[in-house]
Amino acid sequence: MPRSSPATPAAAIAFASHAPHARAVTGAVYHRRVSPGPGDDAAARADFPPSFLFGTATAATQIEGHCTTSDWYAFAKQPGRVKHGDTPAVACDSWNRWREDVALQRTLGMGAYRLGIEWARIEPRPGSIDRVALDEYRAMLAALHDARIEPMVTLHHFTLPAWLAERGGVLADGFAERLAGLARTAAGALGDLCRLWITVNEPNVLAAQAYVLGAWPPARKDLRLALRAQKRLLAAHDAAYHALKDARGDGAQVGVAHHLRAVEPARPRSIRDRAAAALFRRFFNDAFAVAACRRGTQDFFGINYYSRDVVRFSARKAGELFAARDVPAGAPVSDLGWEIYPRGLGDVVRRWAARSGLPVYVTENGIADARDTRRAAFLEAHLRELAAALRDGVDVRGYFHWSLLDNFEWAEGYEPRFGLVAVDYATLARTPRPSAAVYARIARTRSLTQP
Ligand code: FCB
Repeated sequence: MPRSSPATPAAAIAFASHAPHARAVTGAVYHRRVSPGPGDDAAARADFPPSFLFGTATAATQIEGHCTTSDWYAFAKQPGRVKHGDTPAVACDSWNRWREDVALQRTLGMGAYRLGIEWARIEPRPGSIDRVALDEYRAMLAALHDARIEPMVTLHHFTLPAWLAERGGVLADGFAERLAGLARTAAGALGDLCRLWITVNEPNVLAAQAYVLGAWPPARKDLRLALRAQKRLLAAHDAAYHALKDARGDGAQVGVAHHLRAVEPARPRSIRDRAAAALFRRFFNDAFAVAACRRGTQDFFGINYYSRDVVRFSARKAGELFAARDVPAGAPVSDLGWEIYPRGLGDVVRRWAARSGLPVYVTENGIADARDTRRAAFLEAHLRELAAALRDGVDVRGYFHWSLLDNFEWAEGYEPRFGLVAVDYATLARTPRPSAAVYARIARTRSLTQP
């Protein structure tokens, strides 16, 4: 694995001085259960070691608002692109209210936060860097520090500066070098305040939505372009990885947030269903992740896990790898109709920890649940899978729940409610849902057993 000179960043030193982060920084053993002291009930009940990071995740475009230079800002304004004509123009107004968002996390006792930085805001015109925007991100990271919340920063979470989208987006010549440029800028401006980095979020989902389903910019439907997009994103990830490592050495721990689904054939005896499931698994789930593992350009393996697909062969779906994806009859689902299938998280975590040989972070997992009737049980069931994996010695280092806040869910607009904290879009008031208290208790006690 290519490495440059190991530096000890100020951030690492600062975090190392806080007990909950100490082992994460020094790289000691993570997957031991906490050994109880005499009469220490809390430690005896612990399912997660002190170094395990409990946090939440968001993305810049989905919460910040007030960025008029991104491709999604323009795309959402086109009629019919986003449900109800919603746009990310204001979103949760977090660009103005991020202090409140940090305070909320502190109240919930979170130890980590995955956030995005908006490329279009930082580089609104080619090569011209907005230092004021970078300073604002710096202030955000410093506030997280003060609240003892470890940041994980995502460089690319689906969106692009409009100027880059106009030149071909991820397929533009020189895209990899452009992302590496952003990585260098971010490492220079924010590197001392951030140890954990995600270069690219869900490259497979971006390729599928943008170039297979045609639902996201640039809204094309061409399988060859989708494959090319994944290749370009892989090269860009590599370049950004090296840029971060060159700037920060081992002070930057860098990964990808891979979107991985549980995949099964609808009729296990049907050769065609099995073949369609295998094809879907291979090209959608595995292709990018396998290639990234082969190249050795990850320090950890990030997993976004949401749901399962039961795959039926469909000749009519040639453009989607012949895969008709369903939910088993009667299975529990979210407001978006995604199957709730916690076992899949345990399966993908175990499989990819073994396959990559890397520590794992669950970089996203969550549920659209406006009435908050399923979120607490969802959280507990998914965390139970991680606790079991930890007991078996799997090196899982953290869990980032999607999401801290209700937010702009891409082409679905504001209807799906993924937040531990509800957002009233008329007033922008934030109100923690009951499930947030459940997550806060788990994070505080490090245990899934009710006291
Ligand atoms: C993931 C995305 C994230 C959010 C959740 C619900 O695929 O990374 O931005 O939309 O789904």
